[in-house]
Amino acid sequence: SIIPVILSGGAGTRLWPMSRKHYPKQFIDLTGSGKTMLQMSALRTQAFGAPIVVCSEEHRFIVAEQLTSIGITPAAIILEPVAKNTAAAIAIAAHFAKNVADDAIIAVFPADHLVSDETAFVSALKDGVEVCAQGKLVTFGVRPDKPETGYGYINLDEQKVGESHVVKQFVEKPEYQVACEYIKAGHYLWNSGMFMFSANTLLHELKLTEPELVENCQNALLQAKQDLDFIRLNKTEFSKCKNISIDYALMEKSDNVVSIALNVGWSDIGSWESIWQESPKDAHQNVLIGDVLACQSTGCFIHSKEKLTAVVGIDDLLVVDTDDSLLIIDKKQSQEVKTIVAQLEQQS
Ligand code: GDD
Ligand code: MG
Repeated sequence: SIIPVILSGGAGTRLWPMSRKHYPKQFIDLTGSGKTMLQMSALRTQAFGAPIVVCSEEHRFIVAEQLTSIGITPAAIILEPVAKNTAAAIAIAAHFAKNVADDAIIAVFPADHLVSDETAFVSALKDGVEVCAQGKLVTFGVRPDKPETGYGYINLDEQKVGESHVVKQFVEKPEYQVACEYIKAGHYLWNSGMFMFSANTLLHELKLTEPELVENCQNALLQAKQDLDFIRLNKTEFSKCKNISIDYALMEKSDNVVSIALNVGWSDIGSWESIWQESPKDAHQNVLIGDVLACQSTGCFIHSKEKLTAVVGIDDLLVVDTDDSLLIIDKKQSQEVKTIVAQLEQQS
C-alpha cells in the first residue's frame, strides 16, 4: 500500500507579502484556481489514499480546515513543535507509516508545487511503486530548461530499473557555473522534490547517514500525544534532530537512488516571477489578478484584490497589493523578495 505524505512546513518567504510566516504560500490560492497549493496537492494524490500531512504545530487548524473543505480526511496530521527541515519530517512520516503497515511505501510531496498533467502524474507514481518494492529510493526528475541553482540535479546512468534510471550522482543546489555545465551535458534532471520509497528502505538508508536523527524521530513519535485529530510530536526529542534536508542527508550520499522522469508540467512556484511564468497571460503578456487596470504596460504581474490598482506605461514589474503591504519589484529580481522579509524580521 502507498501512503501519500504531504510536507507542509515551508515558510515561502519569496512570495511575500501574500505568503507570511503565519500563513505561508501552501495555504494560499496563488494561481486564482479557487484551491490552495495544499488542497491541490491533496487532491492530486488522493487516488493513492488518505495522506499524512506533516506541518508546523502553528498551522494545524489551517491544514485541518483546508482538507475538510475539499472532503479529504487525512490519515494523520503530524505536528512539528519546531521546524527541522525535510529529513526529519520524512523520517517521522516513515516511522508512522511503518506502524500502519510494515511494508508501507510512502510517496512524499511538497505542498507547494504545481502539476498540470495529473493523469501522467498518477501514472509516473504507479511506475514508482514497482521500483520501491525492489528496495530503491525513487526521486521524480524533471527535464531542466535553465541553470536554476535552487534545485537538486540528478546525473542519470544508462542503466535502467523498470521505468527508472539509476542515479549516478545527486547534487543539491550546485553553483551557477556547475548548473550551466549540467544543462549543457544534457543527461541531468532536476530533482522535483517528490520522492517514493518503502518506509523500511528509507529508515534503513537514513540510519547509515544520520543515525541519531532516525532515533530522535522514533522517540519523538513514540512519545507523541494525540490531541483531537492531531499527533503532537514530543518537543524534547524532536528538538534534538539535526536541521538538514533529505537531499543533503541522504540523496547526495546514497548509491541506491533511481529516478523516474516526470513529464507532467511540473513547476515549483517559488517566486512571483515563476507564478507569472505559469499563469495564462493577456495579449500584452500581463497577468492581472483581482481589480486591476493596465494601460500600455507589458510583461507585468499585478495582484490586487483589496482595491483597484491601475498602472500606465510600466513593463516587467511585479505588483502585489494586500491589505497591509504593497510590493513593487523588478521581475528579474523576484528572488530578492526574501531580503525584504529578512529585513522586516530584523526590525521586528
Ligand atoms: N513538515 C515540514 N517540515 N515540511 C518542510 C520543512 C519542515 O521543517 N521544511 C521544508 N518543508 C517542505 C516545504 O514546505 C516544501 O513543500 C518541501 O518541504 C521542500 O522544502 P523547500 O524548502 O521548498 O526545499 P527547496 O525548494 O529548497 O529544495 C527542494 O525542492 C526542490 C524542488 O522544488 C529539494 O528537494 C531540491 O532538490 C529540489 O530541486
Ligand atoms: Mg521549494
